[in-house]
Amino acid sequence: MTDASDQRLVIVSNRVARPKKKGAAAGGLAVGVLAALQEHGGVWFGWNGKLTDGEATDPEVITEENIDYATIALNEVDYEQYYNGYSNRVLWPVCHYMLDFIQYDAADFEGYRRVNAVFARKLMSILRPDDIIWVHDYHLIPLASELRAAGVTNPIGFFLHVPFPSYEAFRAVPGHEYLLRAMCAYDVLGFHTAGDLAAFETCVREPIIGADFLDDHVIRVPGGQLIADVFPIGIDVAQITDLAAAATGTEEVKKMFRSLEGRDLIIGVDRLDYSKALKQRLLSYERLLERYPDTRSHVTMMQIAPPTRTGVRTYDEIRSQLERTSGRINGRFAESDWVPIRYLNKGISRDQLMGFFRHAKVGLVTPVRDGMNLVAKEYVAAQDPADPGMLVLSSLAGAARELKSAVIVNPYDRDDVADGIATALAMPLEERKQRHADMIDVLRRNDITRWRTRFVEALLRKREFSKPA
Ligand code: G6P
Repeated sequence: MTDASDQRLVIVSNRVARPKKKGAAAGGLAVGVLAALQEHGGVWFGWNGKLTDGEATDPEVITEENIDYATIALNEVDYEQYYNGYSNRVLWPVCHYMLDFIQYDAADFEGYRRVNAVFARKLMSILRPDDIIWVHDYHLIPLASELRAAGVTNPIGFFLHVPFPSYEAFRAVPGHEYLLRAMCAYDVLGFHTAGDLAAFETCVREPIIGADFLDDHVIRVPGGQLIADVFPIGIDVAQITDLAAAATGTEEVKKMFRSLEGRDLIIGVDRLDYSKALKQRLLSYERLLERYPDTRSHVTMMQIAPPTRTGVRTYDEIRSQLERTSGRINGRFAESDWVPIRYLNKGISRDQLMGFFRHAKVGLVTPVRDGMNLVAKEYVAAQDPADPGMLVLSSLAGAARELKSAVIVNPYDRDDVADGIATALAMPLEERKQRHADMIDVLRRNDITRWRTRFVEALLRKREFSKPA
């Protein structure tokens, strides 16, 4: 496949996830960006996971294979305000339509803007004139406006990995006017779904921006034009399928499989985040055991839930909620030789995970809101096409717009989820094979290469039409 550009690609995100470094629970951003960079090569700029009590440090560059990881340490107070504060107590909940979780503090908003200015300054020290800059996620919305103010003229794109809320939700956020103006400083804005793009359009249609919508996803905003389009993130299908097939031969995966003693495995893997609705998921599983007594002693649910954002109180609270709920359900249904739920409050290696996926009869992905959810796509790619497991997927995850052959459920409705799991467990082989083939086809057509090349192409197209005549 030919590449969209030979120019250096500089990716910027809050978290940088070097493959050889064990870090916090990887979300979709880290998985997708790493896959894109491994293919194309380039620079990944961001926070190095370390905090200082002084100034932010200068970029330290480590080269591994074809990627330069350029990372900085941030001031501890700044980071608390920018990351735990405005990013995760304000922007994360509003983007997931969970306004009750918003905890706004003006000092956090200040910190958010300060850290974005620091990112801009430090990034500039490693930029070359023909670099293409691709910024990722809600932590860094103001980055382009900071870079432009400092005279940077390179193409700058922004991709949002989380849903974008409609104006009626977004306007609850103190600072939303500033954020919308800052978004308009980018050349290209990318969203996962048509719904997110439409929601963004509801915002810029308001008088704050007063945008004009031209042809071909071009929007005229004060100060210029930008492209806003849908770029659903994909995966490297062959890589996951091979990884999963190879992992089934490893001792760890065989040990897990033997421990099931012939029972069907239902697997869930999510960062311990309230948007993933893990308590509702456990209650739906409890409903399955109630409504379908035959499943008792015949299925095992494994929920892998690595802790995340432990500096934010709501995240600590859901951890204890889940411990209570899984304990109660296990107490209610367990037999001397069977425990219904295996709850792992930690992450496991990617290879092992893909091996587990391949053995799981059902992949359970039931967030109450999710930008895309790459776990859903990876679960499908990890299956054996000759005897595939079935994905039970929330209608409120971005992935449901593409994986229409999954068993689609409403995560707020426990009966619906329980029935969906029962349907998946009982699905005849021929139907599973057909649905799996349909989904693999979708995943192959819109893979990780297409995500990156389409985005970079949009940036280059924007460059062309905004050149002075
Ligand atoms: C989601 C977000 C990412 C984030 C990831 C993990 O996927 O879109 O930006 O990196 O969650 O969250 P964390 O706060 O640990 O980086």
